[in-house]
Amino acid sequence: MEIKGTTKLCGVFGYPVRHSISPVFQNAAFHYLGLDIVYLPLEVKPENLPVAVQSLRAFSFVGVNVTIPHKKNIVALLDEVDEEVELLGVANTVLNKDDCLKGFITDGKGFLRSLREEGGFDPAGKKVLVFGAGGTAYALTASLIRAGTSTLVICNRTRERAEELKKHLKGNFPHCHLEVIGFDRRFDPGVYKEVTLIVNTTACGMKDEDGILVPPEVLPESVFVYDVIYNRQTELVQAALRKNLACLNGLSMLIYQGAVSFEIWTGLPAPIEVMKRSVLAQRKLL
Ligand SMILES: NC(=O)c1ccc[n+]([C@@H]2O[C@H](COP(=O)([O-])OP(=O)(O)OC[C@H]3O[C@@H](n4cnc5c(N)ncnc54)[C@H](OP(=O)(O)O)[C@@H]3O)[C@@H](O)[C@H]2O)c1
Repeated sequence: MEIKGTTKLCGVFGYPVRHSISPVFQNAAFHYLGLDIVYLPLEVKPENLPVAVQSLRAFSFVGVNVTIPHKKNIVALLDEVDEEVELLGVANTVLNKDDCLKGFITDGKGFLRSLREEGGFDPAGKKVLVFGAGGTAYALTASLIRAGTSTLVICNRTRERAEELKKHLKGNFPHCHLEVIGFDRRFDPGVYKEVTLIVNTTACGMKDEDGILVPPEVLPESVFVYDVIYNRQTELVQAALRKNLACLNGLSMLIYQGAVSFEIWTGLPAPIEVMKRSVLAQRKLL
């Protein structure tokens, strides 16, 4: 990568930010397409977020990604937001167009593209079981309903949070059939009847000691398993692979949500394969 007098800036605001994989695949994509843009990890303490946002205009940034803990607080500091940010109250991408800062959230779109393009799975008309009721669950359930999912079953460790998610979804998408089930019900094979997609949006599986969310013996024979966790291969993903089920892990979503950000900034189709290869090479998985 050659930095010149003309090089434009992109990056990711986070605190901490050193774990971020985004610089790896975004720089690979810019380089592959010969774009004169560099993507930097930008450590921003919460108290410095307003001044960091100002700096996007001062340094004529193309845009930035925004990660923990800024996804919510950045929204009030932007000039415009798209309708998904309006719905969810969080943003993970900022575009700087002539000093006007517009916020987007690419998690839902990235997840759907990953599911369709890499997983070959179309959720339209399907019954889907979603584990979790945190920020990721809000983004992914909205995108599944927009994509035509007919029945959504929500299962979360804290039931009240699942009920809150259901209420939020019912208010915005009254046509979708929604159910909440207790967390212990995940051991009941009957729960998976007609379910064709299981999505784990919880943090369960991030650590070795977390254990498995769904025991292999209750996983139906022809279900698609999608786990958003990307730091390790979870027990759920391992069980799905052992049972020869169609399955994706969070690396796919990470790349695709980054690809949607890339397309917002550049207006060009993201080189998905290049982005994927750069991450796998960095993780020495090639
Ligand atoms: N692949 C990607 O691109 C991508 C993007 C965004 C997020 N993620 C991943 O998504 C996960 C959730 O992120 P988030 O932002 O939605 O977090 P969040 O808002 O804090 O929500 C966490 C969720 O996980 C549940 N949970 C946490 N530990 C659990 C455990 N040991 N057993 C069962 N449930 C547990 C929580 O249940 P309670 O309500 O009971 O606490 C809640 O539903 C993280 O692993 C994150 O890395 C991946």
